[in-house]
Parts: sequence; structure tokens; C-alpha cells
Amino acid sequence: MYENVTLITHPLIQHKVSILRDKNTTSKDFRELAREIAMLMAYEVTRNLPLQDKKVETPISPMVGKELAGYDLAIVPILRAGLGLVDGILDLIPNAKVGHIGLYRNEETLEPVEYYCKLPKDIENRTVIITEPMLATGGSMIGAVNLLKKHGVKNIKSMHLICSREGIKKLVEVHPDIEIYTPVIDEIINECGYIVPGLGDAGDRLFGTK
Ligand code: URA
Repeated sequence: MYENVTLITHPLIQHKVSILRDKNTTSKDFRELAREIAMLMAYEVTRNLPLQDKKVETPISPMVGKELAGYDLAIVPILRAGLGLVDGILDLIPNAKVGHIGLYRNEETLEPVEYYCKLPKDIENRTVIITEPMLATGGSMIGAVNLLKKHGVKNIKSMHLICSREGIKKLVEVHPDIEIYTPVIDEIINECGYIVPGLGDAGDRLFGTK
């Protein structure tokens, strides 16, 4: 595996992902679980954020504690399924800003085309966590990272619920500098672009649109 891919093997996350995969899980439960997993994963994604000393006066004495060293965060979901992971991260990092990227696939060129992009105005100074539940062919993720780099973003991490091995390979080939976090990697993508066994269409399952 690639050194910039972190497989999150925590038992709570693995347990919850299996419930997400179950076709009988309702949209309400799916949404709640996706939020919980995102919160648990955010703990890992932020593990290496730099700290600096901070003077604190406790009721007993002054001391030097720690605080995050100025690397403000932004969460950028890829519409629409990426929305399902935003609130879980915000539960842990309530001051993070949220941008949105919408991409569709041009059926002739098969390239992702931007239809919506609204980002915090100081995005270039932020560490960005892209949320995309399913990293399948990698096309949307590559498009989203291209877009963020065009806006000057230098530190990019991505959070997924399920990745395909092929999607990771493609993304890492084009963008070797981003950090990818996922609890599971599935081996197959079918002819319709779905991950097998996967969990189906993450957007439909989150929003009950099927
Ligand atoms: N997008 C989904 O929602 N599911 C997949 O399996 C692949 C892409």
C-alpha cells in the first residue's frame, strides 16, 4: 500500500461500516452512522496537526499547555454524497469552514466537469479535508484536488468510507502529495462504476432517493 494512505482499522469504525454496507439499513440509520464514522475518522485525520505552547492559568497555578498551531481547517464535500460526512467532522472541529464542490462526468470525454464551487475566501491558507464517501474510479477526487490546487491549497487530506484499490492507485499517481484516509479497500469496480461489494449508491442511501 502507499505511504500516504491510512487504513483506519479501529473496531468501532469497522463495525459501523459493515452496518452501512447492509442493504437493509435505513436512510435514517445510514445518515447517523456516516456521521458517527466521520467523527471517529476525524480523530485520526487530525492526529498529526502541529501544536504550539499556550500559557494557561489553572485555578491552582500558571502552566504551559498546548494549542493547535494556526493551521485552520476547511471541510470540502464533493456534492452530493460528501455532505454525509460533514457534520461528523464538525462535531469534533466546530470552527472548521465548509466549502462545496459539485462535479459531473462528461459522458463523451468521461472527464469530471465543475458545475459548482464555493470555497472559503482564505482557502489557500487552510488544511482541507475533502469528503467523498466512495472513492471508485478516482475521477471526481482527481477533479476536486485539481480545483483546490488551482485555488492555491497546499495541504489536502481526503476522507472516504470505502475506496477501490484502482481509485487509490489513480489518485496517488496524479496527486502523490495528498493524504488519503479510509477504513476499507474493496477490490472490484463493476461496469457501472460501482464498488463491489461496496454499499451501493452512497447519495441515494444517505438521502433516500431510490
Ligand atoms: N459512488 C457510489 O455512491 N457508490 C459506488 O459504489 C461508487 C461510486
